[in-house]
Amino acid sequence: MAVLVTGGAGYIGSHTVAALAERGEEIVVIDNLEQGHRDAVISGKLYVGDLRDESFVEGVFKENNIDAVIHFAANSLVGESMTNPGKYYHNNVYGTLCLLEAMNKHGVKSIVFSSTAATYGEPENVPINESDRTVPTNAYGETKLAMEKMMKWFDTAHGIRYVSLRYFNAAGAHESGRIGEDHTPETHLVPIVLQAALGKRSHISVFGDDYATEDGTCVRDYIHVSDLADAHLLAVDRLRRGEASAIYNLGSGQGFSVKQVIDIARAVTEREIPVVLEQRRSGDPAVLIASSEKARTELGWKPKRDKMEDIIRSAWQWHLSKPEGYGDR
Ligand code: UFG
Repeated sequence: MAVLVTGGAGYIGSHTVAALAERGEEIVVIDNLEQGHRDAVISGKLYVGDLRDESFVEGVFKENNIDAVIHFAANSLVGESMTNPGKYYHNNVYGTLCLLEAMNKHGVKSIVFSSTAATYGEPENVPINESDRTVPTNAYGETKLAMEKMMKWFDTAHGIRYVSLRYFNAAGAHESGRIGEDHTPETHLVPIVLQAALGKRSHISVFGDDYATEDGTCVRDYIHVSDLADAHLLAVDRLRRGEASAIYNLGSGQGFSVKQVIDIARAVTEREIPVVLEQRRSGDPAVLIASSEKARTELGWKPKRDKMEDIIRSAWQWHLSKPEGYGDR
């Protein structure tokens, strides 16, 4: 039986493909390569196409003996989702509907879903629990929440069980050095800081230092991408055991401010990283920290690479060896 990974050429998708390969799973990847990279798919059979293309998806399900799906394929830029929400509803929500319809048609009953801390919006508690209120402050988070809810109703009606994994801030790169983070445009803090260390950017802009945090900059919960990947395999195992649908936060439970991240990156890289203070970025909550107790207890998930220095070092090794990323943009 094969695991279908949609968006398997993307950052977290490609690390999950690598983890599936390491334990000998048969892997089928669908990616439209709008954001993903062909070279990021280091194992499995890659089908280049779009989930909204019914006959394409039909072909993939017919040609392969798929028993579980891990669904990453989506647009994920918060800023873009605010200026072009239609794109997010069309690709993320409608794309998921097409996938679920195909799964239902072909009797595939298990899906692991790539969700996000953005489903919570401004947190009511720190750390955030899965039962806390979900009021997204951006269209990206709203579409991810809509996708989760769609899966709930497909479970009720058709018995397609899901595990939704709400990630906090993914960072780092695979230990092999073969895959890592390469977004165009890049908006995430860690790669931008490291690009500044490499001299590929003149500086890192710090978006606001007047938040109600210790040093005034935003605090986030950073988690190594390979630890996220491991959680997807545990979620597949849970569904294969026939257990019920569930939602889990994935984070380290530790918060680091923007300034702390920059300082750690300076220590790891031993390079200068010039900083320019800018206005707050709209929609940024001051503090986002996960409680991942539920994932630890129910999935048996335990992040292995939980030192921030090590996370940044693994990202730095990737940036040093591949300063142009995959070089396909
Ligand atoms: N930041 C800067 N300068 C930059 C980039 C980021 O100061 O050049 C700051 C941001 O303001 C934020 C922190 O660094 O405070 C982290 O920003 P990222 O863009 O790396 O990550 P976010 O926390 O904004 O985004 C993450 C996920 C999204 C998800 C979001 C939920 O990457 O997918 O959390 O809020 F939607």
